[in-house]
Formats: sequence, C-alpha cells, structure tokens
Amino acid sequence: MTTMIKVCELTKSFGTIVAVDHVDIEVDKNEIFGLVGPDGAGKTTLLRMICGLIEPDRGKVVLFGEEILRNSNRSRLGYMPQRFSLYGDLTVMENINFFGSLYGLKKTTIRQRAEEILSITNMLEFEDRLAANLSGGMKQKLALTCALITGPEILILDEPTYGVDPESRKEFWKILYRLNKEGVTLMVSTPYMDEAELCHRVAIINQGRVVAVDTPVHLKQSLPHRLLEVRADSRDPRVFAGLSHMDSCSFYGDRYHIAVQDPDAAIREIKDFLEERRIRVYSIREVDPSMEDVFVALTATDNGVGL
Ligand SMILES: Nc1ncnc2c1ncn2[C@@H]1O[C@H](COP(=O)(O)OP(=O)(O)OP(=O)(O)O)[C@@H](O)[C@H]1O
Ligand SMILES: [Mg+2]
Repeated sequence: MTTMIKVCELTKSFGTIVAVDHVDIEVDKNEIFGLVGPDGAGKTTLLRMICGLIEPDRGKVVLFGEEILRNSNRSRLGYMPQRFSLYGDLTVMENINFFGSLYGLKKTTIRQRAEEILSITNMLEFEDRLAANLSGGMKQKLALTCALITGPEILILDEPTYGVDPESRKEFWKILYRLNKEGVTLMVSTPYMDEAELCHRVAIINQGRVVAVDTPVHLKQSLPHRLLEVRADSRDPRVFAGLSHMDSCSFYGDRYHIAVQDPDAAIREIKDFLEERRIRVYSIREVDPSMEDVFVALTATDNGVGL
C-alpha cells in the first residue's frame, strides 16, 4: 500500500494558541480520509500545512513518498479551501480558465479537463453563467472543478459542503466517490457526521490533537458505554442532570442520547426520574452508537451538555 500523505509530529502555534499539536496521520492511496473536530480544532491549519501553504513549527509532511517542498508536486495535489473565492463577475468557464492559467496549463488542456469535470458534476449547461448567480451547491461544484483542473492524484477538501442543502451534499459526495473510484486519494474535513460515515477512515481532532483514527465502524464499536435514546416531553438539554446511571447525555433537539453502563438499571431510573418531574416519556430504547455519539464522547469539554 502506498502512503500518499504522511504527517509526522506536525505542530503549529499562533502566538500562545497551539493550533496543531504533534499530529501523526497516514493516508493510503485511494483512501477517503475524513477529518472531523469542533470549530477551532485545527483542521484548516493541518490541511494548509499538508498543502505546503503554511510552514509548520516542527514535524514534516511527506506526499507521494517524497518530502513536500515549496511549489514542488503542487499540480499533483488539488486543494479546495474552506473559504474559496470565486470571481462572481466571471462566468463558470472563465473562473476555470483563470485557475488553469495559474498553473500554466494550456487552453486546450483546460478546456478538455473542464468539460470532463463539468459533465461529472452536471454543470456543463451552466458554463456561461456568472459565478455570482450560481446556487450554493453549484458554487461548491465550481470550486471543486477548479481544484481538479490539474488532474491531481490527491485532493484536499476543507469543509466542502458547509452550508449546502442536504440534497446537494449527497450529490457532492457522489462526485467524491466517483473521483475516488477513478484513483484520486481524498482527505476531507467535515462538520457533518453523516459525511464522516462515508469516509473509509476518520481522524477526530480536538484542540490540535488527533484523539482517534479508525474506520467509522471501529470508532463506534470502541465507545466504552451503551446508549439509550430517550424521547420525552422536554426541550431542556440539562433535564437529566443528577441521574446516577449516566456517563453523559447529549440532546439532539427531539431526543436525548444517554451513555450508560447498565441499560436496564438506567431505564428504570430514567422512568422514575421523569415521572417524579411529571415529564411525559414517549420512548426509551437502546440504540447503536452513531458517529455523532463518537464525536461527542471524544471531543466533550467540561462545559459539554449534561456532563
Ligand atoms: N492565521 C492565524 N492567526 C492566529 N490564529 C490562528 C490563525 N489561523 C488559525 N488560528 C487559530 O488556530 C486555531 C485552529 O484554527 P483552524 O482554523 O485550523 O481550526 P478549524 O478546525 O479549521 O476550525 P473551523 O471548524 O472553525 O474551520 C484556532 O484557535 C484559530 O483561532
Ligand atoms: Mg477550518
């Protein structure tokens, strides 16, 4: 197995903030590798160091088995930044031409490559539309097209579907899968746990440190507790504070997930607890953990809900 991205001891501080703290990650050829973590966890800083856009304080990045050097290998790596700036007063095709020309690509190469990607992303018919007039999902697809214009073997995407509607997010991931099938190695950060499920492996990063790396299935299996889903007539995230059979509790708007060691004892306690407070219970059942539960368990802070 070829290691496409190898990150060793990578560290970066901004003043007193350690944004990335001794991170080790290896991404294999043809992997879809996910990066999830709370706001400010260091995802963007890590991805930018991998792309060679910022200098680490210590540690190193090795791409394609060779150490990354400024400007070398650049066209073999595509990067879709978190805040991608498209030129709103240029059309889709003009934006693509602009990015292609930055890499010194020939007009005919750009045209051929653009047609290929625009057809994969269902954007061909919009090539003359001004970027400013594209929908959110279409703007992200144009950004992706620009990141792919050099035909990179590694594609780094920083929250590429942030704020995009669920249907467009699904479509975007279909495109990522297709690219992956065609041999592109992907490293993608996402705030969405349903997208984390779609990655082959996921690194969970918190306060600059990688706290877990594994497949979604293994991450879920490794949770050290069982989970109860409770639906009740309450919208108070802290309603269960004081429950004794509880490791932690998270509130998802219409339901609570309560981490417990002994589900039977906890169910009894929860029923009594809610009855005493005259809160109606709709359902209590044990559920399989989701990536959301893994995320909460591994990134919980002292002020986390119900902890
Ligand atoms: N150029 C900079 N100067 C100073 N501090 C910075 C700089 N870039 C990032 N930071 C800080 O480093 C930490 C990590 O930021 P980073 O943008 O990498 O996090 P992130 O995981 O991408 O967050 P988000 O999910 O909000 O995009 C944060 O505390 C941030 O404020
Ligand atoms: Mg970021």
